Amino acid sequence: MTTLAEATPAAPAHTQGLGDENSIWFKLTALQRGNEQNPMATLMHLAERYGGVIRVNMGTEAVVFLTEPDHFKRVLVTKVDDYIKYFDGLKPIFGKSMITHDGALWQKVRMPQQPAFHPDMFAEYIPYFLVAIRAKMDLWAGLAKSGDSFEMVEQTWTLAADMICKALFDRDMPFNPHVVFKCVKTYTDVMNHKQVRLKKVHGSDDFEIAEDDTAKAMEVWANVPAEVMAANPREARERTLLTMIDAAVADPSFPEFDRQQAIDELKQYLWAGTETTALTLAWALYQTSKNPEMAARIREEGQQVYGDREPTSADYGSLVFTRAVIQETMRLYPPIWGLIRVATKEDEIGGKRILPGDRVVLFAYGTHHSPKYWEDPETFKPERFMGEAAKKRKPYTYIPLGGGKRSCIGGAMSQVENTLALSILLRRFRLEYTGIEPPGLTATVTLTPKAGLHFKVHELG
Ligand code: HEM
Repeated sequence: MTTLAEATPAAPAHTQGLGDENSIWFKLTALQRGNEQNPMATLMHLAERYGGVIRVNMGTEAVVFLTEPDHFKRVLVTKVDDYIKYFDGLKPIFGKSMITHDGALWQKVRMPQQPAFHPDMFAEYIPYFLVAIRAKMDLWAGLAKSGDSFEMVEQTWTLAADMICKALFDRDMPFNPHVVFKCVKTYTDVMNHKQVRLKKVHGSDDFEIAEDDTAKAMEVWANVPAEVMAANPREARERTLLTMIDAAVADPSFPEFDRQQAIDELKQYLWAGTETTALTLAWALYQTSKNPEMAARIREEGQQVYGDREPTSADYGSLVFTRAVIQETMRLYPPIWGLIRVATKEDEIGGKRILPGDRVVLFAYGTHHSPKYWEDPETFKPERFMGEAAKKRKPYTYIPLGGGKRSCIGGAMSQVENTLALSILLRRFRLEYTGIEPPGLTATVTLTPKAGLHFKVHELG
Protein backbone atom coordinates (compact mmCIF):
# COMPACT_ATOMS: atom_id res chain seq x y z
CA MET A 1 0.00 0.00 0.00
CA THR A 2 1.25 3.48 -0.83
CA THR A 3 1.10 6.06 1.90
CA LEU A 4 0.33 9.30 0.20
CA ALA A 5 1.94 11.41 2.86
CA GLU A 6 5.23 9.62 2.21
CA ALA A 7 5.18 10.49 -1.44
CA THR A 8 3.65 13.94 -1.46
CA PRO A 9 2.47 16.34 1.20
CA ALA A 10 -1.00 16.60 -0.39
CA ALA A 11 -3.07 14.39 -2.64
CA PRO A 12 -1.70 14.67 -6.19
CA ALA A 13 -3.85 16.62 -8.61
CA HIS A 14 -4.76 13.60 -10.68
CA THR A 15 -6.39 11.87 -7.70
CA GLN A 16 -8.43 14.84 -6.54
CA GLY A 17 -12.11 14.16 -6.77
CA LEU A 18 -11.65 10.43 -7.08
CA GLY A 19 -13.70 8.14 -4.91
CA ASP A 20 -16.30 10.68 -3.92
CA GLU A 21 -19.22 8.49 -3.03
CA ASN A 22 -21.43 11.54 -2.79
CA SER A 23 -20.90 11.99 -6.50
CA ILE A 24 -24.08 11.59 -8.48
CA TRP A 25 -22.34 9.05 -10.73
CA PHE A 26 -22.27 6.55 -7.88
CA LYS A 27 -25.86 7.21 -7.02
CA LEU A 28 -27.09 6.82 -10.57
CA THR A 29 -25.18 3.58 -10.92
CA ALA A 30 -27.04 2.22 -7.89
CA LEU A 31 -30.38 3.28 -9.37
CA GLN A 32 -29.72 1.29 -12.50
CA ARG A 33 -29.50 -2.08 -10.81
CA GLY A 34 -32.29 -4.54 -11.51
CA ASN A 35 -31.80 -5.41 -15.15
CA GLU A 36 -28.58 -7.19 -16.08
CA GLN A 37 -28.81 -6.45 -19.80
CA ASN A 38 -30.00 -2.89 -19.74
CA PRO A 39 -29.28 -0.63 -16.78
CA MET A 40 -31.60 1.96 -18.34
CA ALA A 41 -34.64 -0.32 -17.90
CA THR A 42 -35.35 0.66 -14.29
CA LEU A 43 -35.25 4.35 -15.16
CA MET A 44 -37.42 3.78 -18.25
CA HIS A 45 -39.92 1.90 -16.12
CA LEU A 46 -40.01 4.70 -13.53
CA ALA A 47 -40.61 7.29 -16.25
CA GLU A 48 -43.43 5.22 -17.76
CA ARG A 49 -45.08 4.74 -14.41
CA TYR A 50 -44.64 8.13 -12.78
CA GLY A 51 -44.48 10.52 -15.73
CA GLY A 52 -41.95 12.95 -17.11
CA VAL A 53 -40.67 14.41 -13.83
CA ILE A 54 -39.52 11.97 -11.18
CA ARG A 55 -38.03 13.16 -7.95
CA VAL A 56 -35.84 10.66 -6.16
CA ASN A 57 -34.57 11.65 -2.72
CA MET A 58 -31.08 10.34 -2.17
CA GLY A 59 -29.80 11.15 1.27
CA THR A 60 -28.85 14.80 1.39
CA GLU A 61 -29.92 15.71 -2.14
CA ALA A 62 -32.67 15.06 -4.64
CA VAL A 63 -32.16 13.83 -8.17
CA VAL A 64 -34.91 14.85 -10.56
CA PHE A 65 -35.26 12.81 -13.76
CA LEU A 66 -36.77 14.54 -16.78
CA THR A 67 -37.90 12.69 -19.91
CA GLU A 68 -40.20 15.19 -21.66
CA PRO A 69 -38.82 17.22 -24.61
CA ASP A 70 -40.53 20.40 -23.36
CA HIS A 71 -38.75 20.01 -20.05
CA PHE A 72 -35.42 19.49 -21.83
CA LYS A 73 -36.03 22.77 -23.64
CA ARG A 74 -36.76 24.56 -20.38
CA VAL A 75 -33.49 23.42 -18.80
CA LEU A 76 -31.30 23.74 -21.90
CA VAL A 77 -32.72 26.92 -23.40
CA THR A 78 -35.48 28.87 -21.65
CA LYS A 79 -33.96 28.78 -18.15
CA VAL A 80 -30.46 27.75 -19.13
CA ASP A 81 -28.74 30.12 -16.71
CA ASP A 82 -30.64 28.69 -13.74
CA TYR A 83 -29.29 25.18 -14.32
CA ILE A 84 -25.54 24.90 -14.06
CA LYS A 85 -23.16 22.12 -15.05
CA TYR A 86 -22.38 19.23 -12.72
CA PHE A 87 -18.88 17.79 -12.88
CA ASP A 88 -18.18 16.51 -9.37
CA GLY A 89 -15.91 13.49 -9.46
CA LEU A 90 -14.77 14.14 -13.02
CA LYS A 91 -12.07 16.71 -12.33
CA PRO A 92 -9.23 14.37 -13.33
CA ILE A 93 -10.79 13.98 -16.77
CA PHE A 94 -11.80 17.55 -17.47
CA GLY A 95 -9.86 19.80 -15.09
CA LYS A 96 -11.19 23.36 -15.41
CA SER A 97 -11.95 23.08 -19.13
CA MET A 98 -14.82 24.99 -20.72
CA ILE A 99 -17.25 22.06 -20.54
CA THR A 100 -17.23 22.40 -16.74
CA HIS A 101 -17.83 26.18 -16.54
CA ASP A 102 -20.92 28.37 -16.62
CA GLY A 103 -21.78 31.99 -17.31
CA ALA A 104 -19.35 34.62 -18.51
CA LEU A 105 -16.19 32.55 -17.95
CA TRP A 106 -17.58 29.65 -20.04
CA GLN A 107 -18.38 32.04 -22.88
CA LYS A 108 -14.96 33.69 -22.65
CA VAL A 109 -13.16 30.34 -22.82
CA ARG A 110 -15.31 28.98 -25.64
CA MET A 111 -15.08 32.02 -27.89
CA PRO A 112 -11.45 31.73 -29.08
CA GLN A 113 -11.92 28.00 -29.81
CA GLN A 114 -15.26 28.20 -31.59
CA PRO A 115 -13.83 29.01 -35.07
CA ALA A 116 -12.05 25.62 -35.14
CA PHE A 117 -15.47 23.95 -35.30
CA HIS A 118 -17.04 26.10 -37.98
CA PRO A 119 -18.31 23.89 -40.85
CA ASP A 120 -16.03 25.83 -43.23
CA MET A 121 -13.09 24.10 -41.51
CA PHE A 122 -14.32 20.57 -42.29
CA ALA A 123 -12.93 20.57 -45.84
CA GLU A 124 -9.52 21.28 -44.35
CA TYR A 125 -9.86 18.47 -41.79
CA ILE A 126 -11.10 15.72 -44.11
CA PRO A 127 -7.68 14.84 -45.63
CA TYR A 128 -6.37 14.28 -42.08
CA PHE A 129 -9.39 12.13 -41.18
CA LEU A 130 -8.61 10.10 -44.29
CA VAL A 131 -4.96 9.58 -43.27
CA ALA A 132 -6.17 8.19 -39.93
CA ILE A 133 -8.80 5.98 -41.61
CA ARG A 134 -6.21 4.62 -44.04
CA ALA A 135 -3.90 3.72 -41.13
CA LYS A 136 -6.81 1.90 -39.49
CA MET A 137 -7.50 0.02 -42.73
CA ASP A 138 -3.86 -1.13 -42.90
CA LEU A 139 -4.22 -2.48 -39.39
CA TRP A 140 -7.50 -4.22 -40.20
CA ALA A 141 -5.97 -5.78 -43.31
CA GLY A 142 -3.48 -7.45 -40.95
CA LEU A 143 -6.29 -8.58 -38.64
CA ALA A 144 -8.19 -9.97 -41.64
CA LYS A 145 -5.13 -12.02 -42.60
CA SER A 146 -4.46 -13.32 -39.10
CA GLY A 147 -8.16 -13.99 -38.39
CA ASP A 148 -7.71 -12.54 -34.89
CA SER A 149 -10.73 -11.19 -33.09
CA PHE A 150 -10.57 -7.69 -31.59
CA GLU A 151 -12.58 -5.25 -29.48
CA MET A 152 -14.17 -2.52 -31.57
CA VAL A 153 -14.52 0.38 -29.10
CA GLU A 154 -10.77 0.27 -28.55
CA GLN A 155 -10.28 0.31 -32.34
CA THR A 156 -12.63 3.22 -32.91
CA TRP A 157 -11.25 5.12 -29.90
CA THR A 158 -7.73 4.98 -31.31
CA LEU A 159 -9.10 6.07 -34.70
CA ALA A 160 -11.00 9.02 -33.17
CA ALA A 161 -7.93 10.07 -31.14
CA ASP A 162 -5.78 9.93 -34.28
CA MET A 163 -8.30 12.05 -36.23
CA ILE A 164 -8.46 14.70 -33.49
CA CYS A 165 -4.68 14.87 -33.09
CA LYS A 166 -4.02 15.17 -36.81
CA ALA A 167 -6.88 17.48 -37.80
CA LEU A 168 -7.27 19.72 -34.74
CA PHE A 169 -3.80 19.71 -33.23
CA ASP A 170 -1.56 19.16 -36.29
CA ARG A 171 0.19 16.31 -34.47
CA ASP A 172 0.69 12.61 -34.91
CA MET A 173 -0.42 10.89 -31.71
CA PRO A 174 2.67 11.16 -29.49
CA PHE A 175 1.22 8.59 -27.04
CA ASN A 176 0.31 4.93 -27.26
CA PRO A 177 -3.45 5.19 -27.84
CA HIS A 178 -4.13 1.66 -26.59
CA VAL A 179 -2.55 2.45 -23.21
CA VAL A 180 -4.37 5.78 -22.92
CA PHE A 181 -7.66 4.15 -23.96
CA LYS A 182 -7.33 1.62 -21.13
CA CYS A 183 -6.54 4.39 -18.65
CA VAL A 184 -9.60 6.38 -19.66
CA LYS A 185 -11.77 3.26 -19.39
CA THR A 186 -10.44 2.49 -15.93
CA TYR A 187 -11.49 5.93 -14.85
CA THR A 188 -14.86 6.34 -16.54
CA ASP A 189 -16.16 3.16 -14.98
CA VAL A 190 -17.01 5.06 -11.82
CA MET A 191 -17.22 1.94 -9.70
CA ASN A 192 -13.43 1.81 -10.00
CA HIS A 193 -13.27 5.11 -8.13
CA LYS A 194 -14.13 3.25 -4.99
CA GLN A 195 -10.83 1.48 -5.26
CA VAL A 196 -8.91 4.70 -4.99
CA ARG A 197 -10.77 6.28 -2.14
CA LEU A 198 -8.24 8.14 -0.08
CA LYS A 199 -8.53 6.60 3.34
CA LYS A 200 -7.27 8.14 6.52
CA VAL A 201 -4.86 5.75 8.16
CA HIS A 202 -6.18 4.85 11.59
CA GLY A 203 -4.54 6.86 14.37
CA SER A 204 -2.37 9.05 12.10
CA ASP A 205 -2.57 12.08 9.85
CA ASP A 206 -1.66 10.06 6.78
CA PHE A 207 -3.82 9.10 3.85
CA GLU A 208 -3.37 5.94 1.88
CA ILE A 209 -4.58 4.70 -1.46
CA ALA A 210 -6.06 1.25 -1.05
CA GLU A 211 -5.74 0.30 -4.70
CA ASP A 212 -3.84 2.55 -7.00
CA ASP A 213 -4.74 1.29 -10.48
CA THR A 214 -7.12 4.13 -11.14
CA ALA A 215 -4.77 6.73 -9.71
CA LYS A 216 -2.00 5.43 -11.96
CA ALA A 217 -4.35 5.49 -14.92
CA MET A 218 -5.08 9.13 -14.21
CA GLU A 219 -1.40 9.92 -13.94
CA VAL A 220 -0.89 8.64 -17.49
CA TRP A 221 -3.90 10.65 -18.63
CA ALA A 222 -2.69 13.82 -16.89
CA ASN A 223 0.53 13.71 -18.93
CA VAL A 224 -1.10 13.32 -22.35
CA PRO A 225 -1.89 17.01 -23.13
CA ALA A 226 1.68 18.14 -22.41
CA GLU A 227 2.97 15.34 -24.66
CA VAL A 228 0.69 16.52 -27.46
CA MET A 229 1.81 20.13 -27.05
CA ALA A 230 5.48 19.17 -26.99
CA ALA A 231 5.27 16.91 -30.06
CA ASN A 232 6.51 18.22 -33.42
CA PRO A 233 3.81 19.74 -35.62
CA ARG A 234 3.09 17.57 -38.67
CA GLU A 235 2.88 20.50 -41.08
CA ALA A 236 3.07 23.68 -39.00
CA ARG A 237 -0.42 24.73 -40.13
CA GLU A 238 -1.27 28.25 -39.04
CA ARG A 239 -4.93 27.86 -38.09
CA THR A 240 -5.59 24.82 -35.94
CA LEU A 241 -7.44 24.42 -32.67
CA LEU A 242 -4.07 24.18 -30.94
CA THR A 243 -2.80 27.45 -32.45
CA MET A 244 -6.06 29.11 -31.37
CA ILE A 245 -5.55 27.81 -27.82
CA ASP A 246 -1.91 29.00 -27.87
CA ALA A 247 -3.06 32.45 -28.99
CA ALA A 248 -5.55 32.61 -26.11
CA VAL A 249 -2.74 31.75 -23.64
CA ALA A 250 -0.56 34.49 -25.14
CA ASP A 251 -3.33 37.09 -24.98
CA PRO A 252 -2.49 39.47 -22.07
CA SER A 253 -6.10 40.64 -21.88
CA PHE A 254 -7.20 37.12 -21.03
CA PRO A 255 -5.26 36.09 -17.88
CA GLU A 256 -7.77 33.34 -16.99
CA PHE A 257 -6.67 31.41 -20.08
CA ASP A 258 -3.37 30.27 -18.58
CA ARG A 259 -1.23 27.24 -19.44
CA GLN A 260 -3.27 25.01 -17.14
CA GLN A 261 -6.42 26.13 -18.98
CA ALA A 262 -4.77 25.08 -22.26
CA ILE A 263 -3.80 21.69 -20.82
CA ASP A 264 -7.32 21.15 -19.54
CA GLU A 265 -8.88 22.15 -22.87
CA LEU A 266 -6.78 19.46 -24.56
CA LYS A 267 -7.82 16.92 -21.93
CA GLN A 268 -11.43 17.78 -22.60
CA TYR A 269 -11.05 17.28 -26.36
CA LEU A 270 -9.14 14.06 -25.95
CA TRP A 271 -12.02 12.71 -23.89
CA ALA A 272 -15.17 14.41 -25.21
CA GLY A 273 -14.04 14.18 -28.82
CA THR A 274 -12.92 10.54 -28.71
CA GLU A 275 -15.04 8.46 -26.32
CA THR A 276 -18.37 9.63 -27.74
CA THR A 277 -17.32 9.49 -31.41
CA ALA A 278 -15.77 6.05 -30.88
CA LEU A 279 -18.82 4.60 -29.16
CA THR A 280 -21.07 5.83 -31.96
CA LEU A 281 -18.93 4.34 -34.73
CA ALA A 282 -18.53 1.04 -32.85
CA TRP A 283 -22.31 0.68 -32.34
CA ALA A 284 -22.91 1.64 -36.00
CA LEU A 285 -20.51 -1.12 -37.08
CA TYR A 286 -22.33 -3.53 -34.78
CA GLN A 287 -25.74 -2.60 -36.24
CA THR A 288 -24.54 -2.83 -39.84
CA SER A 289 -22.89 -6.21 -39.17
CA LYS A 290 -26.31 -7.44 -38.02
CA ASN A 291 -28.06 -5.89 -41.04
CA PRO A 292 -26.07 -6.92 -44.13
CA GLU A 293 -28.53 -5.17 -46.43
CA MET A 294 -27.77 -1.88 -44.66
CA ALA A 295 -24.05 -2.49 -45.03
CA ALA A 296 -24.67 -3.16 -48.75
CA ARG A 297 -26.65 0.08 -49.08
CA ILE A 298 -23.81 2.03 -47.47
CA ARG A 299 -21.35 0.46 -49.95
CA GLU A 300 -23.60 1.30 -52.91
CA GLU A 301 -24.04 4.87 -51.72
CA GLY A 302 -20.27 5.28 -51.43
CA GLN A 303 -19.78 3.81 -54.90
CA GLN A 304 -22.32 6.24 -56.38
CA VAL A 305 -21.13 9.32 -54.52
CA TYR A 306 -17.34 9.09 -54.70
CA GLY A 307 -16.66 5.91 -56.67
CA ASP A 308 -13.03 4.85 -56.64
CA ARG A 309 -11.53 8.13 -55.49
CA GLU A 310 -11.42 9.41 -51.91
CA PRO A 311 -14.42 11.35 -50.56
CA THR A 312 -14.27 15.14 -50.22
CA SER A 313 -16.31 17.57 -48.17
CA ALA A 314 -18.62 18.06 -51.18
CA ASP A 315 -19.35 14.32 -51.14
CA TYR A 316 -20.22 14.30 -47.45
CA GLY A 317 -23.56 16.03 -48.09
CA SER A 318 -24.56 13.27 -50.51
CA LEU A 319 -23.86 10.38 -48.13
CA VAL A 320 -27.43 10.70 -46.90
CA PHE A 321 -28.09 7.11 -45.88
CA THR A 322 -24.69 6.58 -44.26
CA ARG A 323 -25.13 9.75 -42.20
CA ALA A 324 -28.63 8.62 -41.19
CA VAL A 325 -27.12 5.36 -39.91
CA ILE A 326 -24.83 7.40 -37.65
CA GLN A 327 -27.76 9.54 -36.46
CA GLU A 328 -29.96 6.53 -35.75
CA THR A 329 -27.06 4.95 -33.85
CA MET A 330 -26.91 8.03 -31.60
CA ARG A 331 -30.66 7.70 -30.99
CA LEU A 332 -30.51 4.05 -29.91
CA TYR A 333 -27.19 4.35 -28.07
CA PRO A 334 -26.76 8.00 -27.00
CA PRO A 335 -23.19 8.03 -25.65
CA ILE A 336 -24.24 10.74 -23.18
CA TRP A 337 -27.36 8.95 -21.94
CA GLY A 338 -28.12 11.59 -19.29
CA LEU A 339 -27.16 15.27 -19.13
CA ILE A 340 -26.74 16.51 -15.58
CA ARG A 341 -27.37 19.96 -14.17
CA VAL A 342 -27.73 21.57 -10.75
CA ALA A 343 -30.66 23.92 -10.18
CA THR A 344 -29.56 27.28 -8.79
CA LYS A 345 -33.05 28.75 -8.41
CA GLU A 346 -36.45 27.48 -7.44
CA ASP A 347 -38.47 26.38 -10.46
CA GLU A 348 -41.52 24.37 -11.38
CA ILE A 349 -41.40 21.69 -14.04
CA GLY A 350 -44.42 19.62 -15.02
CA GLY A 351 -46.21 20.83 -11.89
CA LYS A 352 -43.39 19.68 -9.60
CA ARG A 353 -41.17 21.96 -7.54
CA ILE A 354 -37.48 22.08 -8.25
CA LEU A 355 -35.37 23.38 -5.39
CA PRO A 356 -31.98 25.08 -5.53
CA GLY A 357 -29.32 22.37 -5.28
CA ASP A 358 -31.45 19.65 -6.88
CA ARG A 359 -29.55 17.53 -9.38
CA VAL A 360 -31.50 17.39 -12.62
CA VAL A 361 -30.91 14.54 -15.06
CA LEU A 362 -32.11 15.03 -18.62
CA PHE A 363 -32.72 11.39 -19.44
CA ALA A 364 -31.89 11.44 -23.16
CA TYR A 365 -31.93 7.64 -23.48
CA GLY A 366 -35.49 7.54 -22.10
CA THR A 367 -36.82 10.01 -24.65
CA HIS A 368 -34.86 8.44 -27.52
CA HIS A 369 -36.54 5.11 -26.71
CA SER A 370 -40.01 6.40 -25.94
CA PRO A 371 -42.90 4.98 -28.01
CA LYS A 372 -44.58 8.35 -27.45
CA TYR A 373 -42.10 9.98 -29.84
CA TRP A 374 -40.70 7.16 -31.94
CA GLU A 375 -42.63 4.50 -33.79
CA ASP A 376 -41.24 1.08 -32.98
CA PRO A 377 -38.48 2.71 -30.90
CA GLU A 378 -36.30 -0.38 -30.38
CA THR A 379 -35.90 -1.00 -34.11
CA PHE A 380 -32.86 0.40 -35.91
CA LYS A 381 -34.31 2.48 -38.78
CA PRO A 382 -31.98 5.09 -40.32
CA GLU A 383 -34.86 6.31 -42.55
CA ARG A 384 -36.20 8.24 -39.54
CA PHE A 385 -33.42 10.74 -40.22
CA MET A 386 -34.07 11.09 -43.94
CA GLY A 387 -36.41 13.31 -45.94
CA GLU A 388 -39.88 14.15 -44.64
CA ALA A 389 -39.68 11.84 -41.63
CA ALA A 390 -36.77 13.88 -40.25
CA LYS A 391 -38.64 17.16 -40.74
CA LYS A 392 -41.65 15.93 -38.74
CA ARG A 393 -39.67 15.19 -35.60
CA LYS A 394 -40.77 17.06 -32.50
CA PRO A 395 -38.00 19.37 -31.21
CA TYR A 396 -35.94 18.09 -28.25
CA THR A 397 -36.99 14.45 -28.71
CA TYR A 398 -33.44 13.78 -29.96
CA ILE A 399 -30.62 15.28 -27.91
CA PRO A 400 -27.48 13.14 -28.37
CA LEU A 401 -25.46 16.35 -28.72
CA GLY A 402 -27.30 18.26 -25.99
CA GLY A 403 -29.12 21.46 -26.89
CA GLY A 404 -29.16 25.25 -26.64
CA LYS A 405 -25.99 27.25 -26.13
CA ARG A 406 -24.23 24.39 -24.29
CA SER A 407 -24.70 21.91 -27.10
CA CYS A 408 -21.71 19.95 -28.34
CA ILE A 409 -19.07 22.10 -30.01
CA GLY A 410 -17.77 19.13 -32.04
CA GLY A 411 -21.05 17.40 -32.86
CA ALA A 412 -21.22 18.36 -36.55
CA MET A 413 -17.55 17.50 -37.02
CA SER A 414 -17.97 14.10 -35.38
CA GLN A 415 -20.73 13.28 -37.87
CA VAL A 416 -18.36 14.01 -40.71
CA GLU A 417 -15.69 11.80 -39.10
CA ASN A 418 -18.05 8.91 -38.46
CA THR A 419 -19.95 9.08 -41.74
CA LEU A 420 -16.73 9.00 -43.75
CA ALA A 421 -15.18 6.29 -41.57
CA LEU A 422 -18.27 4.07 -41.79
CA SER A 423 -18.51 4.47 -45.56
CA ILE A 424 -14.82 3.85 -46.25
CA LEU A 425 -14.33 0.98 -43.81
CA LEU A 426 -17.42 -0.91 -44.99
CA ARG A 427 -16.43 -0.54 -48.63
CA ARG A 428 -13.28 -2.54 -47.98
CA PHE A 429 -14.30 -4.86 -45.13
CA ARG A 430 -17.09 -7.09 -43.88
CA LEU A 431 -17.36 -7.29 -40.12
CA GLU A 432 -18.39 -10.41 -38.28
CA TYR A 433 -19.67 -9.84 -34.76
CA THR A 434 -18.30 -12.51 -32.43
CA GLY A 435 -19.28 -11.05 -29.05
CA ILE A 436 -22.14 -11.83 -26.68
CA GLU A 437 -25.64 -11.33 -28.01
CA PRO A 438 -27.28 -9.03 -27.13
CA PRO A 439 -24.19 -7.03 -26.17
CA GLY A 440 -25.83 -5.50 -23.06
CA LEU A 441 -25.16 -2.03 -21.72
CA THR A 442 -23.24 -0.40 -18.93
CA ALA A 443 -24.12 3.17 -18.06
CA THR A 444 -21.63 5.29 -16.20
CA VAL A 445 -20.65 8.69 -17.53
CA THR A 446 -21.23 7.24 -21.01
CA LEU A 447 -23.32 4.37 -22.30
CA THR A 448 -20.98 1.55 -23.23
CA PRO A 449 -21.30 -2.07 -24.36
CA LYS A 450 -21.19 -4.26 -21.28
CA ALA A 451 -18.31 -6.47 -22.35
CA GLY A 452 -17.07 -4.50 -25.36
CA LEU A 453 -17.98 -5.31 -28.98
CA HIS A 454 -15.88 -8.16 -30.36
CA PHE A 455 -15.43 -8.70 -34.06
CA LYS A 456 -13.48 -10.49 -36.76
CA VAL A 457 -12.85 -8.62 -39.96
CA HIS A 458 -12.80 -9.93 -43.54
CA GLU A 459 -11.51 -8.21 -46.69
CA LEU A 460 -14.16 -7.96 -49.40
CA GLY A 461 -12.98 -9.60 -52.62
C1 HEM B 1 -20.79 11.32 -31.38
C2 HEM B 1 -20.00 12.26 -30.93
C3 HEM B 1 -20.34 13.19 -29.80
C4 HEM B 1 -21.37 13.17 -28.90
C5 HEM B 1 -22.50 12.17 -28.80
C6 HEM B 1 -21.19 14.31 -28.03
C7 HEM B 1 -22.06 14.68 -27.02
C8 HEM B 1 -22.00 15.86 -26.33
C9 HEM B 1 -23.03 16.36 -25.44
C10 HEM B 1 -24.33 15.66 -25.12
C11 HEM B 1 -22.61 17.55 -24.96
C12 HEM B 1 -23.37 18.47 -24.01
C13 HEM B 1 -23.25 18.01 -22.60
C14 HEM B 1 -24.16 18.79 -21.65
O1 HEM B 1 -24.89 19.67 -22.07
O2 HEM B 1 -24.12 18.46 -20.47
C15 HEM B 1 -21.30 17.81 -25.51
C16 HEM B 1 -20.52 18.92 -25.23
C17 HEM B 1 -19.25 19.08 -25.69
N1 HEM B 1 -18.60 18.30 -26.63
FE1 HEM B 1 -19.36 16.71 -27.58
N2 HEM B 1 -20.05 14.98 -28.39
C18 HEM B 1 -19.50 14.33 -29.47
C19 HEM B 1 -18.35 14.70 -30.15
C20 HEM B 1 -17.50 15.71 -29.80
C21 HEM B 1 -16.29 16.09 -30.50
C22 HEM B 1 -15.77 15.42 -31.76
C23 HEM B 1 -15.73 17.11 -29.78
C24 HEM B 1 -14.47 17.88 -30.04
C25 HEM B 1 -13.46 17.48 -30.73
C26 HEM B 1 -16.61 17.38 -28.65
C27 HEM B 1 -16.38 18.35 -27.69
C28 HEM B 1 -17.34 18.80 -26.81
C29 HEM B 1 -17.15 19.95 -25.96
C30 HEM B 1 -15.89 20.79 -25.83
C31 HEM B 1 -18.36 20.14 -25.26
C32 HEM B 1 -18.65 21.23 -24.26
C33 HEM B 1 -19.21 22.43 -24.96
C34 HEM B 1 -19.52 23.56 -23.99
O3 HEM B 1 -19.71 23.33 -22.80
O4 HEM B 1 -19.58 24.68 -24.46
N3 HEM B 1 -17.67 16.52 -28.70
N4 HEM B 1 -20.95 16.78 -26.37
